[in-house]
Amino acid sequence: MRIDIITLFPELLQSPFEASIVKRALQGGKAEIHFHNPRDYSSNKYKQVDDYPYGGGAGMVMMIEPLDLCISQLKKERDYDAVIYMTPDGETLDQPIANQCSLYKNIILLCGHYKGVDQRVRDHLVTREISIGDFVLSGGELAAAVFCDSIIRLIPGVLGDESSALSDSFQDGLLAPPIYTRPANYKGWEVPEILTSGNTPAVDRWREEKALERTQRLRPDLLGE
Ligand code: ADE
Repeated sequence: MRIDIITLFPELLQSPFEASIVKRALQGGKAEIHFHNPRDYSSNKYKQVDDYPYGGGAGMVMMIEPLDLCISQLKKERDYDAVIYMTPDGETLDQPIANQCSLYKNIILLCGHYKGVDQRVRDHLVTREISIGDFVLSGGELAAAVFCDSIIRLIPGVLGDESSALSDSFQDGLLAPPIYTRPANYKGWEVPEILTSGNTPAVDRWREEKALERTQRLRPDLLGE
């Protein structure tokens, strides 16, 4: 998967890709991320990329021309499955959306700033809009980092244990069951006995029960109740 990220602030997006699973995916060639700064596409001698909103009001708006030039240049180089704008009024990211987007080969991610982008960018250049939740961030970069992490870890071969993404919370519509590791007894706080029994079918049943119980208690909405 190739991800081209259009952002005024690439430094906000560096460290999430420099550690752990995502770093390994990049190093292993499973994913590549490239940054593009709209300022490099500004025709203005001051490298201006934002302007006052027509009709007045607070805040600045990202101008269409630098974004169009940047996106057009990228599209000349390869075909894209989607041009995604990170925005609080997009469709809310969830596991089914992450699963679906993990199948993309080439995508462009556009990070907005200030009041957002000129509506014509959304109407004519963007093909999908994604929010990471009902709250407003200072820009799309942190949302893009969350989105990239959620899809890169699902690319086949990225997680060491191929089955471990399947046992994530939400992957089967349920929260994940509790997990434990050694020691079996810490300060008298004990690991459930069944987990140390070696009885795999019984452990599987216990995990299913706990997943259901936890979902009923914490997220009954997931069960449609
Ligand atoms: N940009 C600002 N807030 C955002 C959010 N909640 N999701 C995606 N992009 C955003």
